[in-house]
This record gives sequence, structure tokens and C-alpha cells, in this order.
Amino acid sequence: MEISTVGIVGAGLMGSGIAEICARQGLRTLIADSGDEPLKTGRQRIAGSLHRARERGKLSAGEVEQVLEEIHFTTDLDEFAECDICIEAVPEHLPLKTSVFQRLDSIAPERAILATNTSSLPIIEIARVTSRPERVIGTHFFNPPPVMRLLEVVRSIATSPETLHETREFGERLGKRIIVAQDRGGFIVNLLLIPFLTHAVRLYESGFATREDIDEGMRLGCGHPMGPLELLDYIGLDTALFVCDSLYDEYANADYAPPPLLRRMVAAGYLGRKSGRGFYEYERPPAA
Ligand SMILES: NC(=O)c1ccc[n+]([C@@H]2O[C@H](COP(=O)([O-])OP(=O)(O)OC[C@H]3O[C@@H](n4cnc5c(N)ncnc54)[C@H](O)[C@@H]3O)[C@@H](O)[C@H]2O)c1
Repeated sequence: MEISTVGIVGAGLMGSGIAEICARQGLRTLIADSGDEPLKTGRQRIAGSLHRARERGKLSAGEVEQVLEEIHFTTDLDEFAECDICIEAVPEHLPLKTSVFQRLDSIAPERAILATNTSSLPIIEIARVTSRPERVIGTHFFNPPPVMRLLEVVRSIATSPETLHETREFGERLGKRIIVAQDRGGFIVNLLLIPFLTHAVRLYESGFATREDIDEGMRLGCGHPMGPLELLDYIGLDTALFVCDSLYDEYANADYAPPPLLRRMVAAGYLGRKSGRGFYEYERPPAA
């Protein structure tokens, strides 16, 4: 199946970035959110990202306008009736995602792939509320989608080989490198990343080393672009805690248990860059 029209649900951090990369490939792109305000914020985020791409010489001014015009913003999911693929990027809450999938299933054509950008929820739990579990798949983009080259495709126990194949081709068309993961907590990347990050928090919490030395050790010693504590501040400590909790629920393995300091920091509202304070202090939260 040729994918020419994409519908994205959720114009937040991830949905707006996914819409941008689809529109930049010339795909007809629709993006829906629950209200005008988040759509406006999403549009500003896309415009900001496109202008940054223009400053880096990757797009001309005319192309910036063209891409923005390519994206149709709506609060009405009924407009997704012609979509070949729908990508859901609403908050990480299973009842919310299943209600979105029930609506998409009733609106999107039978041929359409229904994809979720979930970072941690079981794909099969989402697929089972639809009449087409074989057409449901995980498309785990990384933040920010226009910059990060990876797309982790997650197939559930019910996903068909055709759906996997078409999703892979779609991701390649977006310029992504594809890795395929099973529908297990953490998929590939978070399963490996989270224990590394939580070990860094435990080292810091025990007073073994300073935050700067832990981060510099991994930056200069291992060539990582960011140290683990810096990376946690970038991801958001609330998001990291959510992923730790869901991995611990899935595997009951102490490697995934969130360190007490992480939980206390989240309780205190120290969420990282977005709140102005995490393992480091930030003058002000950067614009989304
Ligand atoms: N932020 C990341 O680094 C990251 C990375 C990979 C995957 N993810 C996953 O992507 C998904 C979205 O995350 P995000 O960071 O973009 O969240 P976000 O909070 O920035 O955006 C979510 C958007 O969904 C909208 N929304 C809520 N309910 C809706 C509904 N019923 N219909 C339409 N829109 C609705 C919200 O208004 C908001 O604009 C989550 O599943 C998250 O786990 C996030």
C-alpha cells in the first residue's frame, strides 16, 4: 500500500515533530488535538523547528512556508477518513490511548495502519480494542523527531508481516533507520538505557562522585553526547520515573527499580530542564 496521507493524534512535543517530518517528505499531513490552544502551540513548535532548519541551511524560506501549508490542523478526528496511516501521540495513559484507537478504528479506512508512539505501554493492549489488531503497530520515534535518526518499530503478537513491512518502508521514507523490537516493556532502547541512567543516579545518591564527574566520565570516557544525569534532565525526570516503574512492573528486576532520589525529586517538582531544576539548575525552562 502506498502511504500518501498521514493523520497524527496529539500536537505535543512528539506529535508536532512527527507531523513536521511527514510534511517535509511531501506527505499530506493532518494533525489533531483536543483543543485550539494545543494546536496553536504545536504549530508554533513546528514553525520554530523549520526556521531553525532554515538557519542551518537545510530548508529555504519558501520550503518553510510550503511545509507549514502542507500540515492541516484540526480538532475533528472525522477528518482522518482518508488516512493511510494514523499515528497516535497523546499522553502515556492507557485508557486515553485505547479511547483514541477506538475512534480511529471507526473512522480510518480499513486499509489504514494504526500506529502508537507509546514509549512503554503494551502494543497488544492498544490493538485489542480495535477490529484490526493485525494493522496495529508501535512506531517509537525519538525526541526531537526531526533530529533523531532512529525509529523503533514494535510489533505485537498480532501485528501482521505486511503491516511490519509497510511501516518499515514508511519509516525509511521519513529518512529514519529502523530497528524492530518485540512488544516487551522498554522495547530495545529503553531496556538498555534505563538501567544505565538509574545506576548513575545511585552513584550520585550514594555520594560516590559529583554530578559533573559522573557526566564528564561518560561524555569524555565513552563519547556520549550527554552524561546520564544531563540526559535525565533532558528527558524529564517524571517521564524517566514513569518508564522505570513500568519496566519494574513488567520484569520485577531490581535493575529497573527507580532510585529513591529520582522519586523524591519528581515529588518535589524537580523535573529537569522543563521545570528549571533537575540534577542541574537552569535559568529558565527552555521554550518547548
Ligand atoms: N517526550 C518524549 O521524549 C517521548 C519520546 C518518545 C515517545 N514519547 C511518547 O509519545 C507520546 C506523546 O508524548 P509527548 O511528549 O508528545 O506528550 P505531550 O504531552 O507533549 O503531547 C500530548 C498531546 O496530546 C494531546 N491530547 C491529549 N488528549 C488528546 C485527545 N484525546 N485527542 C487528541 N489529542 C490529545 C495534548 O493536548 C497534547 O498536545 C507518549 O506516549 C510518550 O510516552 C515521548
